[in-house]
Formats: sequence, C-alpha cells, structure tokens
Amino acid sequence: MFAPVRYIEWALKFYGKVPLDLASSGIPTASWSELGVPEPSLDDPSAYAAFRETIALYNDVPRGEVVPALGTSHAVFLAYAAMLSPGDEVLVELPGYEPLTRTAVGLGATVRTFERLATDGFAISPERVAAAVTSRTRVIVVTNLHNPTGVRTSDETLRELAKIAEARGAYLLVDEVYAPFDALPEDGVFHASARKLAPNIVAVSSLTKCYGLGMHRIGWVLGPPEIVERAETAIIATCGHLPLSHAARGAVAVANVGKLSVRAKGILAGKRDIAAQWASTIPNASWSAPTSGLFGLVTLEGAPDLLPRIESWANEHGLLVGAGSFFGVPNGFRLSWATLPTKRFEAALAKLGALLR
Ligand SMILES: Cc1ncc(COP(=O)(O)O)c(C=O)c1O
Repeated sequence: MFAPVRYIEWALKFYGKVPLDLASSGIPTASWSELGVPEPSLDDPSAYAAFRETIALYNDVPRGEVVPALGTSHAVFLAYAAMLSPGDEVLVELPGYEPLTRTAVGLGATVRTFERLATDGFAISPERVAAAVTSRTRVIVVTNLHNPTGVRTSDETLRELAKIAEARGAYLLVDEVYAPFDALPEDGVFHASARKLAPNIVAVSSLTKCYGLGMHRIGWVLGPPEIVERAETAIIATCGHLPLSHAARGAVAVANVGKLSVRAKGILAGKRDIAAQWASTIPNASWSAPTSGLFGLVTLEGAPDLLPRIESWANEHGLLVGAGSFFGVPNGFRLSWATLPTKRFEAALAKLGALLR
C-alpha cells in the first residue's frame, strides 16, 4: 500500500502560499514562451520517437537506454517497479527525500537506511553503505545533488557505490534531478549523467527543478536494457501509454532547455553566497555548504524538532523554510534561494535571523 508522504502533504499546505518563500526547491515556473519556440502540434504520433531521441541527446546516452516518464516522481516509480519484487530491500540515504522511501515500501520492498553524517559534511561514505548492504539489497538509492543538503557526490564515489551494488547483483539508483545545477547547460546537453558511470547505474530526472517546467511532467529513466524493458512494461500496467501531448511538448522542451539554463542562472546569481554568509552569522548554526544548486541545510546544534516553530513563522510572519523534520533532520531546515529576487531574499534572511535569535 502507498502510505501518505508526510513531506508532500506538508508542502502542499504551505508551499506557494507564504510570501517570503525560502522553502521551494525548484526554479520558478517558466512559461512556454520562455523556450522561444512555438507550441508543437499535439497529434503527431512521431512525437513519441522524437521525445525519446531528444532525451537521449540531452543526457548524451544511447536512445535505447531511455524511458520517458511523467516527471522524476513517476520515473522513480517506474525504476523501482523495474527493479523490485515484494520482500526485496532498498538502501536509502538519511537524511533523505521521503518519496524515495514511500514509493519503495508501496511496491512491497523493505527500506533500510545509511547515514550521511553532518560531521562528514553530509558526504556519502562508501564504507558505511557497504556495511548496510545485505544479501537482499536490490537497490542503493542516492540523490545528487543531495536533497536536503545540496551537497554533491563525486563521480568516483558513485562508481564505488555502483561496485558495492554490483557485488550483490544490485543497482545504484541516482535521482539526479538537481545535478545539472553544477553546470547549467546553455548548449542544451547535460554531460554529467550518472548513467554513464557504470552499467548497473539507473538515473532518473526531469525538467522540473532546474528549468521551471515541472507542470509539464517531462521526465525520464535512463538504464540498462533489462530495466528499460521492465519500466516500459510498468508504463503499460499503469497507463497503457503516456499521453501523446506529453511526448510532443516534451520533445520540443528538452531540445530547447539551453534558454531555460540561461534563465535559471540569472535567477540564482549570487544568492548562494548570500545564504552561506548569512548562515555564518547565526549562533550555533551549521551550514551544509553546497557548492551549487538552490538550497542548503541549516542545522541548529542541540535544538529540538523545529517543525512547530517553522509553522508559526509561516502562519504569523509569512516566512517559510523547509522543515528538516521531513528529511530526518528535526533540528534543521532547508533554506532555498530559488524563489525570491535578491533584495527580497536578503530581507527574508534578515527576518529569519531575527526569529532565530
Ligand atoms: C530528489 C527529488 N526527486 C524528485 C522530485 C520530484 O520531481 P518531479 O517534480 O519531476 O516529479 C523532487 C521534488 O522535490 C526531489 O526533491
């Protein structure tokens, strides 16, 4: 059974409804006109092949490794459905993004976790992962950039994790929906997909977070042939086939993300440094110090669960941060610079600083 996702329920209650938004984790919504190309015809069946091809070109992988999906959420579902049987184990990072756990459990898997420690700067320790793997582990799951800290994992570490998985006949699933933030591609090609690092790596992503096209649900799974085949079977089982209009829009949007990269860079410019500088002024606070992206994690040493305070800041002061409680860090919050323009961002940080003091 698919249990409610506490984080998503909370996000639906608060995100987009609070004026000083330091919580939302994606580039603000882009309109179709910002792609600079006309809307495509929505009833040309060749769009299915074109969509697959453009996803392959964008990710610099062979076409046969691509399965289109309805956003990263659906891609995660398809990837899990292609890899898991009831009773299998999934090993997920902690802190972590709750749907990666709930979806696996919904499909009958057992979820175990491995910790990314604050004392290691939330880096992944392959030794810790290796120690947590069992003979029933089918998938090791990580986000890159890490949600909620924004910390990047190196290709070398991802290869090590893939080897640990391979020794058990398992896969490494990399949710790389935030990964293009490292080098938003103005040439429209994301050169750094984890899919290319090892045969047993499955990558999922979408145009949601980096490009502001979340409402169009343009996503994909990248994987080896057996995963592609089973993910396609899972599409048939869930909806027969994806909408033709989705493929038509998706093909054009993916082919034109270069313009949205330029837009995203403009929206983010300079704000990560402002956030880091601000965090250094908060007593007893540690900052996850992401090197790219649009959020980082603030943790307050020795603090109790901050959720009640965070909700009161939202309700009484119109200021929202992402409650760490939903990611397994109750004494922390995710701070995002995606939404507010620089001056308002600075004003919101000043207000948050006063509330924290
Ligand atoms: C790590 C991660 N993966 C997936 C998603 C969902 O992406 P999409 O909107 O493309 O389904 C999110 C949304 O917050 C996320 O943080």
